[in-house]
Amino acid sequence: MTVAEALNESLVALEGAVERPRLEAEILLAHHLGCDRTRLLLHDRETLRDAEGFFALVKRRRAHEPIEYITRRVGFYGEEFFIAPGALIPRPETELLVDEAASLIRRRGLRQIVEIGVGSGAVSVTLARLFPDLRIVATDISEAALAIAAENIRRFALADRIELRRVSLLEGVAPDEAELIVSNPPYVAAGTALEPTVGEYEPHEALFAPGDGTALLRRIVELAQERGVPAVCEMGYDQRAPMEAFFASRGIGNVRFYRDLAGLDRGFVVDCRFE
Ligand SMILES: C[S@@+](CC[C@H](N)C(=O)[O-])C[C@H]1O[C@@H](n2cnc3c(N)ncnc32)[C@H](O)[C@@H]1O
Repeated sequence: MTVAEALNESLVALEGAVERPRLEAEILLAHHLGCDRTRLLLHDRETLRDAEGFFALVKRRRAHEPIEYITRRVGFYGEEFFIAPGALIPRPETELLVDEAASLIRRRGLRQIVEIGVGSGAVSVTLARLFPDLRIVATDISEAALAIAAENIRRFALADRIELRRVSLLEGVAPDEAELIVSNPPYVAAGTALEPTVGEYEPHEALFAPGDGTALLRRIVELAQERGVPAVCEMGYDQRAPMEAFFASRGIGNVRFYRDLAGLDRGFVVDCRFE
Protein backbone atom coordinates (compact mmCIF):
# COMPACT_ATOMS: atom_id res chain seq x y z
CA MET A 1 0.00 0.00 0.00
CA THR A 2 1.33 3.46 -0.91
CA VAL A 3 1.18 6.48 1.37
CA ALA A 4 -1.50 8.03 -0.89
CA GLU A 5 -3.62 4.88 -0.68
CA ALA A 6 -3.25 4.76 3.10
CA LEU A 7 -4.39 8.38 3.30
CA ASN A 8 -7.51 7.63 1.28
CA GLU A 9 -8.34 4.50 3.23
CA SER A 10 -7.90 6.21 6.60
CA LEU A 11 -10.00 9.14 5.39
CA VAL A 12 -12.85 6.77 4.61
CA ALA A 13 -12.40 5.04 7.99
CA LEU A 14 -12.63 8.36 9.85
CA GLU A 15 -15.62 9.73 7.95
CA GLY A 16 -18.63 9.93 10.21
CA ALA A 17 -16.45 9.31 13.28
CA VAL A 18 -14.67 12.68 13.49
CA GLU A 19 -15.52 16.21 12.39
CA ARG A 20 -12.56 16.80 10.10
CA PRO A 21 -11.61 13.39 8.67
CA ARG A 22 -9.13 14.62 6.05
CA LEU A 23 -7.23 16.81 8.48
CA GLU A 24 -7.10 14.09 11.12
CA ALA A 25 -6.09 11.38 8.62
CA GLU A 26 -3.23 13.63 7.52
CA ILE A 27 -2.19 14.38 11.11
CA LEU A 28 -2.14 10.67 11.99
CA LEU A 29 -0.25 9.73 8.84
CA ALA A 30 2.31 12.50 9.32
CA HIS A 31 2.72 11.40 12.94
CA HIS A 32 3.22 7.79 11.83
CA LEU A 33 5.79 8.81 9.22
CA GLY A 34 7.50 11.28 11.54
CA CYS A 35 7.13 14.13 9.05
CA ASP A 36 5.30 17.41 8.79
CA ARG A 37 1.71 17.22 7.51
CA THR A 38 2.56 19.74 4.78
CA ARG A 39 5.27 17.37 3.48
CA LEU A 40 3.05 14.30 3.13
CA LEU A 41 2.73 14.85 -0.62
CA LEU A 42 6.45 14.24 -1.01
CA HIS A 43 5.95 10.65 0.20
CA ASP A 44 2.81 10.01 -1.87
CA ARG A 45 4.11 7.15 -3.97
CA GLU A 46 6.29 5.48 -1.36
CA THR A 47 5.24 2.20 0.18
CA LEU A 48 3.82 2.79 3.66
CA ARG A 49 6.01 1.14 6.27
CA ASP A 50 4.21 -0.60 9.13
CA ALA A 51 0.73 -0.11 7.66
CA GLU A 52 -0.68 -2.17 10.54
CA GLY A 53 0.78 0.30 13.05
CA PHE A 54 -0.74 3.21 11.16
CA PHE A 55 -4.22 1.67 10.98
CA ALA A 56 -4.02 0.87 14.69
CA LEU A 57 -3.78 4.65 15.26
CA VAL A 58 -6.77 5.23 12.98
CA LYS A 59 -8.73 2.64 14.92
CA ARG A 60 -7.97 4.39 18.21
CA ARG A 61 -9.21 7.66 16.77
CA ARG A 62 -12.34 5.97 15.40
CA ALA A 63 -12.96 4.83 18.99
CA HIS A 64 -12.91 8.56 19.95
CA GLU A 65 -9.52 8.68 21.66
CA PRO A 66 -8.43 12.35 21.46
CA ILE A 67 -5.97 12.87 18.62
CA GLU A 68 -3.68 14.76 21.01
CA TYR A 69 -3.26 11.65 23.18
CA ILE A 70 -2.45 9.59 20.08
CA THR A 71 0.14 12.02 18.71
CA ARG A 72 1.34 13.10 22.19
CA ARG A 73 1.24 16.74 21.09
CA VAL A 74 -0.97 19.73 21.67
CA GLY A 75 -0.69 23.34 20.55
CA PHE A 76 -1.18 26.03 23.19
CA TYR A 77 -0.41 29.72 22.97
CA GLY A 78 1.60 29.20 19.78
CA GLU A 79 3.84 26.49 21.23
CA GLU A 80 3.79 22.72 21.04
CA PHE A 81 3.41 20.88 24.34
CA PHE A 82 3.78 17.25 25.28
CA ILE A 83 0.51 15.63 26.33
CA ALA A 84 -0.47 12.11 27.33
CA PRO A 85 -3.38 10.37 29.05
CA GLY A 86 -3.44 11.44 32.69
CA ALA A 87 -3.50 15.19 32.09
CA LEU A 88 -6.31 17.29 30.69
CA ILE A 89 -5.66 18.41 27.11
CA PRO A 90 -5.19 22.20 27.31
CA ARG A 91 -8.08 24.00 25.59
CA PRO A 92 -7.87 27.10 23.37
CA GLU A 93 -10.12 29.08 25.75
CA THR A 94 -7.57 28.62 28.53
CA GLU A 95 -5.29 30.96 26.58
CA LEU A 96 -7.65 33.68 27.88
CA LEU A 97 -6.81 32.66 31.45
CA VAL A 98 -3.14 33.16 30.57
CA ASP A 99 -3.91 36.59 29.06
CA GLU A 100 -5.86 37.70 32.14
CA ALA A 101 -3.15 36.46 34.51
CA ALA A 102 -0.43 38.04 32.35
CA SER A 103 -2.07 41.44 32.36
CA LEU A 104 -2.35 41.36 36.17
CA ILE A 105 1.26 40.17 36.58
CA ARG A 106 2.43 42.96 34.27
CA ARG A 107 0.35 45.71 35.92
CA ARG A 108 1.37 44.75 39.46
CA GLY A 109 4.93 43.69 38.65
CA LEU A 110 4.35 40.34 40.40
CA ARG A 111 7.35 38.04 40.90
CA GLN A 112 5.92 34.94 42.60
CA ILE A 113 2.60 33.27 41.78
CA VAL A 114 0.92 29.94 42.31
CA GLU A 115 -1.07 27.80 39.90
CA ILE A 116 -3.58 25.40 41.42
CA GLY A 117 -4.17 22.33 39.21
CA VAL A 118 -1.18 22.55 36.88
CA GLY A 119 -2.24 19.59 34.70
CA SER A 120 -0.01 19.43 31.61
CA GLY A 121 1.81 22.58 32.72
CA ALA A 122 0.68 24.60 29.70
CA VAL A 123 -0.50 27.61 31.75
CA SER A 124 2.51 27.82 34.08
CA VAL A 125 5.02 27.21 31.29
CA THR A 126 3.41 29.90 29.11
CA LEU A 127 3.39 32.44 31.97
CA ALA A 128 7.00 31.65 32.87
CA ARG A 129 7.99 32.16 29.24
CA LEU A 130 6.16 35.50 29.10
CA PHE A 131 7.84 36.76 32.30
CA PRO A 132 11.51 35.78 32.58
CA ASP A 133 11.71 36.86 36.25
CA LEU A 134 8.54 35.12 37.38
CA ARG A 135 8.68 32.18 39.80
CA ILE A 136 5.77 29.76 40.00
CA VAL A 137 4.72 27.14 42.51
CA ALA A 138 2.36 24.76 40.68
CA THR A 139 0.25 22.25 42.57
CA ASP A 140 -1.77 19.22 41.54
CA ILE A 141 -3.13 16.12 43.24
CA SER A 142 -2.54 13.90 40.19
CA GLU A 143 0.81 12.16 39.97
CA ALA A 144 0.26 11.42 36.26
CA ALA A 145 -0.47 15.08 35.50
CA LEU A 146 2.59 16.21 37.46
CA ALA A 147 4.80 13.83 35.46
CA ILE A 148 3.49 15.35 32.21
CA ALA A 149 3.98 18.89 33.56
CA ALA A 150 7.53 17.94 34.57
CA GLU A 151 8.23 16.82 31.01
CA ASN A 152 7.01 20.14 29.59
CA ILE A 153 8.98 22.09 32.17
CA ARG A 154 12.06 20.09 31.15
CA ARG A 155 11.45 20.69 27.44
CA PHE A 156 11.15 24.43 27.95
CA ALA A 157 14.10 24.46 30.41
CA LEU A 158 12.08 26.09 33.20
CA ALA A 159 12.88 23.80 36.13
CA ASP A 160 14.65 26.63 37.95
CA ARG A 161 11.48 28.79 37.97
CA ILE A 162 8.51 26.39 38.13
CA GLU A 163 8.30 24.20 41.19
CA LEU A 164 5.81 21.31 41.09
CA ARG A 165 4.19 20.14 44.31
CA ARG A 166 1.87 17.20 44.77
CA VAL A 167 -0.53 18.78 47.22
CA SER A 168 -4.18 19.80 47.26
CA LEU A 169 -4.95 23.46 46.52
CA LEU A 170 -2.40 25.60 48.45
CA GLU A 171 -1.33 23.10 51.10
CA GLY A 172 2.10 24.07 52.37
CA VAL A 173 2.37 27.05 50.03
CA ALA A 174 3.86 29.93 52.03
CA PRO A 175 2.21 33.38 51.93
CA ASP A 176 5.13 34.96 50.08
CA GLU A 177 4.97 32.27 47.40
CA ALA A 178 1.51 33.31 46.24
CA GLU A 179 1.14 36.95 45.20
CA LEU A 180 -1.52 35.73 42.77
CA ILE A 181 -3.52 32.51 42.42
CA VAL A 182 -4.13 31.26 38.88
CA SER A 183 -6.38 28.28 38.33
CA ASN A 184 -8.38 26.35 35.79
CA PRO A 185 -9.81 23.90 38.30
CA PRO A 186 -12.24 21.05 37.64
CA TYR A 187 -15.61 22.77 37.23
CA VAL A 188 -17.93 20.39 35.39
CA ALA A 189 -20.93 19.51 37.56
CA ALA A 190 -20.61 15.92 38.81
CA GLY A 191 -22.66 13.54 36.70
CA THR A 192 -22.72 15.71 33.56
CA ALA A 193 -22.69 13.56 30.40
CA LEU A 194 -19.71 14.47 28.25
CA GLU A 195 -18.90 13.54 24.67
CA PRO A 196 -16.94 10.24 24.52
CA THR A 197 -13.68 11.92 23.42
CA VAL A 198 -13.69 13.79 26.73
CA GLY A 199 -15.64 11.63 29.17
CA GLU A 200 -14.06 8.30 28.28
CA TYR A 201 -10.45 9.45 27.95
CA GLU A 202 -9.65 12.56 29.95
CA PRO A 203 -9.03 12.28 33.70
CA HIS A 204 -12.20 12.74 35.72
CA GLU A 205 -10.37 14.46 38.59
CA ALA A 206 -9.44 17.17 36.06
CA LEU A 207 -13.02 17.64 34.90
CA PHE A 208 -15.58 17.10 37.62
CA ALA A 209 -16.28 18.95 40.83
CA PRO A 210 -19.07 18.20 43.31
CA GLY A 211 -22.55 19.70 43.16
CA ASP A 212 -23.01 22.35 40.50
CA GLY A 213 -19.28 22.23 39.70
CA THR A 214 -18.33 25.43 41.53
CA ALA A 215 -17.04 23.79 44.73
CA LEU A 216 -13.35 24.18 43.91
CA LEU A 217 -13.79 27.62 42.41
CA ARG A 218 -15.44 28.76 45.63
CA ARG A 219 -12.71 27.16 47.75
CA ILE A 220 -10.04 28.92 45.69
CA VAL A 221 -11.76 32.28 46.16
CA GLU A 222 -11.95 31.62 49.92
CA LEU A 223 -8.21 30.93 49.95
CA ALA A 224 -7.54 34.12 47.99
CA GLN A 225 -9.68 36.04 50.47
CA GLU A 226 -7.91 34.49 53.48
CA ARG A 227 -4.55 35.41 52.01
CA GLY A 228 -5.64 38.79 50.68
CA VAL A 229 -4.38 38.13 47.15
CA PRO A 230 -5.98 38.31 43.71
CA ALA A 231 -7.13 35.19 41.85
CA VAL A 232 -7.73 34.52 38.17
CA CYS A 233 -9.88 31.48 37.44
CA GLU A 234 -11.46 29.77 34.49
CA MET A 235 -15.05 28.59 34.98
CA GLY A 236 -17.94 27.07 33.04
CA TYR A 237 -20.01 29.30 30.72
CA ASP A 238 -23.07 28.82 32.97
CA GLN A 239 -21.40 29.46 36.34
CA ARG A 240 -21.50 33.24 36.48
CA ALA A 241 -24.77 33.39 38.45
CA PRO A 242 -23.73 30.94 41.21
CA MET A 243 -20.32 32.59 41.46
CA GLU A 244 -21.90 36.07 41.68
CA ALA A 245 -24.13 34.84 44.49
CA PHE A 246 -21.08 33.40 46.24
CA PHE A 247 -19.06 36.61 45.88
CA ALA A 248 -22.00 38.58 47.28
CA SER A 249 -22.31 36.18 50.24
CA ARG A 250 -18.62 36.76 51.07
CA GLY A 251 -18.87 40.52 50.65
CA ILE A 252 -16.46 40.44 47.72
CA GLY A 253 -17.16 43.25 45.28
CA ASN A 254 -13.96 43.58 43.31
CA VAL A 255 -14.70 40.99 40.61
CA ARG A 256 -14.64 41.10 36.83
CA PHE A 257 -15.90 38.26 34.67
CA TYR A 258 -14.24 37.71 31.28
CA ARG A 259 -15.75 36.18 28.17
CA ASP A 260 -14.44 34.05 25.33
CA LEU A 261 -14.56 34.96 21.64
CA ALA A 262 -18.03 33.43 21.35
CA GLY A 263 -19.23 35.85 24.03
CA LEU A 264 -19.61 33.16 26.70
CA ASP A 265 -18.61 33.76 30.32
CA ARG A 266 -15.33 31.92 30.81
CA GLY A 267 -13.77 33.09 34.03
CA PHE A 268 -13.16 35.86 36.51
CA VAL A 269 -10.51 38.05 38.03
CA VAL A 270 -11.12 38.72 41.69
CA ASP A 271 -9.07 40.96 43.91
CA CYS A 272 -9.55 40.31 47.60
CA ARG A 273 -6.79 42.67 48.71
CA PHE A 274 -9.08 45.50 49.69
CA GLU A 275 -12.12 43.65 51.00
C1 LIG B 1 -9.11 21.45 34.32
S1 LIG B 1 -7.54 20.72 34.73
C2 LIG B 1 -6.47 22.08 34.30
C3 LIG B 1 -5.11 21.65 33.82
C4 LIG B 1 -4.26 22.79 33.25
N1 LIG B 1 -3.99 23.81 34.24
C5 LIG B 1 -4.96 23.39 32.04
O1 LIG B 1 -5.50 24.49 32.19
O2 LIG B 1 -4.96 22.77 30.97
C6 LIG B 1 -7.62 20.74 36.51
C7 LIG B 1 -6.41 20.17 37.21
O3 LIG B 1 -6.64 20.34 38.63
C8 LIG B 1 -6.17 19.19 39.31
N2 LIG B 1 -6.84 19.14 40.62
C9 LIG B 1 -8.05 18.64 40.95
N3 LIG B 1 -8.31 18.82 42.26
C10 LIG B 1 -7.22 19.46 42.78
C11 LIG B 1 -6.86 19.93 44.08
N4 LIG B 1 -7.67 19.78 45.12
N5 LIG B 1 -5.67 20.54 44.24
C12 LIG B 1 -4.82 20.72 43.20
N6 LIG B 1 -5.12 20.30 41.94
C13 LIG B 1 -6.29 19.69 41.73
C14 LIG B 1 -6.50 18.04 38.36
O4 LIG B 1 -5.72 16.90 38.66
C15 LIG B 1 -6.19 18.68 37.01
O5 LIG B 1 -4.84 18.45 36.64
